[in-house]
Amino acid sequence: MKKVITIDGPSGVGKTTIGQEIALMLNYTFFSSGKLYRYISKYSYDEKNYKYDKFKLSIDISGNCTINNRKYNDDELYNKNINLHSSEIAKNSTVRQLVKTSLLTFYNNIQNGLVIEGRDMGSVVFPNAEYKIYLDADENIRGKRREDQSDSEETIEEIKQRDHKDMHRDESPLIIPKNSVIIDNTNKTKEETIEEIIKKLKLQ
Ligand code: DC
Repeated sequence: MKKVITIDGPSGVGKTTIGQEIALMLNYTFFSSGKLYRYISKYSYDEKNYKYDKFKLSIDISGNCTINNRKYNDDELYNKNINLHSSEIAKNSTVRQLVKTSLLTFYNNIQNGLVIEGRDMGSVVFPNAEYKIYLDADENIRGKRREDQSDSEETIEEIKQRDHKDMHRDESPLIIPKNSVIIDNTNKTKEETIEEIIKKLKLQ
């Protein structure tokens, strides 16, 4: 049986970096669900097309995505504009259903286990995941970490606004999923956080 490890939490808490390392250690596939919201955001914004129910969104087993046969590279997706816009369109229930279906198909197609990060992975998309992690950290620390990332154009204030939106929307808001292990890494390095996850989940 393919196992799933979900990692949820607010922006700048290290979900992607930590998830990638854990996936590498266990020989699992890693995927960042925010990438799909960014794909939908980029496509709808550029094309001025908001007919989400007609969109074809897919992920191949290597994690490459397409939307209506179009591909984007990371710098088209990870920028100020898409940060804000993706959080906005993520409120829409048709968008959320589209992402959920694409993620479940992706999971069915891969051969090994999955480490997946986002805002509602353990609560909505994979409620029966074997392992659920909720990562948190002080918001000023998270903002500082993001500002220090060379490719990030997001300020502490913008992160706070985005988190507020992600936590207070009606559809699948960011919550602590049931049965998750909560780790606050405000004063922890990436290595210490990974060590704690491995220990708490008895992954080794
Ligand atoms: O993780 P990220 O920064 O790439 O996500 C971009 C936006 O997508 C985030 O602000 C809210 C939305 N998102 C979501 O609503 N649910 C998820 N599981 C992942 C991302």
